[in-house]
Amino acid sequence: MSDHFITLEQVSKSYNAGSTSHQVLGDLSLNVAKGEQVAILGHSGCGKSTLLNLISGIDYVDSGVISVANTNLTTLSEKERTLFRRQHIGFIFQSFNLIQTLTALENIQLPLQLNRYPATEIEARAKSMLTRVGLNGRDNAFPDQLSGGEQQRVAIARAMVHSPALVLADEHTGNLDADTGREMIELFSELAKSESQTVLIVTHSLAIAKTADRVLRFLDGKLIADDNLDATDLAW
Ligand SMILES: Nc1ncnc2c1ncn2[C@@H]1O[C@H](COP(=O)(O)OP(=O)(O)OP(=O)(O)O)[C@@H](O)[C@H]1O
Ligand SMILES: [Mg+2]
Repeated sequence: MSDHFITLEQVSKSYNAGSTSHQVLGDLSLNVAKGEQVAILGHSGCGKSTLLNLISGIDYVDSGVISVANTNLTTLSEKERTLFRRQHIGFIFQSFNLIQTLTALENIQLPLQLNRYPATEIEARAKSMLTRVGLNGRDNAFPDQLSGGEQQRVAIARAMVHSPALVLADEHTGNLDADTGREMIELFSELAKSESQTVLIVTHSLAIAKTADRVLRFLDGKLIADDNLDATDLAW
């Protein structure tokens, strides 16, 4: 049993591009403690989304071991990984990934339905979450009737409604203006703190990184800095 909530041991991941193989992550090792809020910085294409996909079990390692909440993801079948992700992980994607044919409230209810919560709890939790992200009264709006910032709020609510122990957010402020982006992170970070959730957040914004407990900086799939400080002297 490890004290760490997330453990990566010598993780490598490559993708095939035609006949050549491109290594995205090489021999990466790192630990994250329970309740830590970690920002991940790095240039486009350096492997940030790949890292989140591996930690969430959406994708699988070529070699090495990833454990989350004392579960070794690398020994699970695809079905077991899906179940693990559904129960323990909330994911806010780069492109929101809301289901366009479902209303805001129905999108938020999805993780509760997949985890087979009782109907009354689904209703109550989803409504309460909608209010917490400031979308009271927008229950029946479809994603295309909401602004980018509002869609973002739905995505945050959907990722957190089942109180997952781990929340992963991938550069989700990218398509928003800077102020809205910062507001979203504040909201997200507050919600996570109130439930002692562990958070990994991919961002290009130093301002956002500075609000995290810890900043990991990547260059070409390698961890080049791990600052366990308030990141006041961050230079990129
Ligand atoms: N499914 C895939 N198949 C092939 N190559 C992939 C796949 N996913 C990612 N890659 C490649 O792996 C590298 C890292 O991609 P990744 O999406 O992790 O980067 P990123 O750091 O998230 O970039 P960005 O900041 O632009 O989102 C890129 O060169 C990308 O083209
Ligand atoms: Mg990415």
